[in-house]
Amino acid sequence: MVENFATNSGAEKNVNMRQTRKTELSDKNVNIRQTTKTELLERARRLPKALIIGFNKCGTAALRSFLSIHPDIVSPNREPRYFSNNYNQGLAWYKSQMPLSTSRQITIEKSPNYIKEIKYLRRIYDMDPQVKLLVIVRNPVTRLQSEYSHEKSKYPEMVSMSYSEWIYINHIERFVVYMSDYASEIRQAYSVFPEEQFLIVSEEDLERDPVSVIRQAETFLNLQPAVSNDVFVFNEKKGFYCFNTSHPFFLSVMDNWEVNTLTGCLVESKGREHPSYDPQLLQQVVNISLPCVQDLFRLIHKKFDWKYYNSYID
Ligand code: A3P
Repeated sequence: MVENFATNSGAEKNVNMRQTRKTELSDKNVNIRQTTKTELLERARRLPKALIIGFNKCGTAALRSFLSIHPDIVSPNREPRYFSNNYNQGLAWYKSQMPLSTSRQITIEKSPNYIKEIKYLRRIYDMDPQVKLLVIVRNPVTRLQSEYSHEKSKYPEMVSMSYSEWIYINHIERFVVYMSDYASEIRQAYSVFPEEQFLIVSEEDLERDPVSVIRQAETFLNLQPAVSNDVFVFNEKKGFYCFNTSHPFFLSVMDNWEVNTLTGCLVESKGREHPSYDPQLLQQVVNISLPCVQDLFRLIHKKFDWKYYNSYID
């Protein structure tokens, strides 16, 4: 947890900082969304027209945050997890979680566990059979590293556990398949929604060239291209693309809890340091996950440029 929301003074400081930055940017008199008066009057909370449904540790926060900079996209700050954890709260509650939008804007929410169960997908279908679904996947080798770094930061009892120990304790065969078998869950989702309603992108593309992935999403969502390279800057210290804080569009992510509003980078829990692989373990992980990767590429009719697998994929 980077930003200090733990104490009142910390939270207040943060709100003040956001407020100051917002005022600075507003002072530039830039109407970033170019909202007309009529649109302002018809602003309402609307159910999502698109959802980011998976996969966790694959860049879902970056995808959501980067998309939310588009003037025709709004997105709630938290993961509502309505179709998974909060279904009993009812649709009116779900709608109340959404930010205000105009009728030309689309609402997108991200809850990466929606893809896990067919029951959640059927509930989504009941809400809107035409909803668009975005899925982000990642090289299983790095997804595992990401999961380890995530768990290590969450569970103090893991402090002295090495990466190899962690994988073996989790039963390597079963665990690696669990973390690599995107195809089974996507196939399950295809049994509920037609394939044309999905956009499947990779974390590697988003990390290397965020605008190229945003372009794919803009096309998929029938939106005008609006996000350009100058919205992002590569932050050497973080090792990732971050928002350019002096760009007027940055105003639209000021309330995003997953963005550090001082640096423009995603918060520290996104982009953690990864453990290194012992070469033997790496080969084992690749061998176990290879059939899952092949299955995925066949299923989605595209291949991602995933290190360690390329030589096995034709
Ligand atoms: P790590 O923290 O292990 O590096 P999710 O949001 O689904 O939990 O995914 C988190 C992952 O998003 C991070 O995993 C990081 O590698 C990846 N990511 C992709 N683009 C990023 C960016 N611009 N800034 C930070 N993390 C990014």
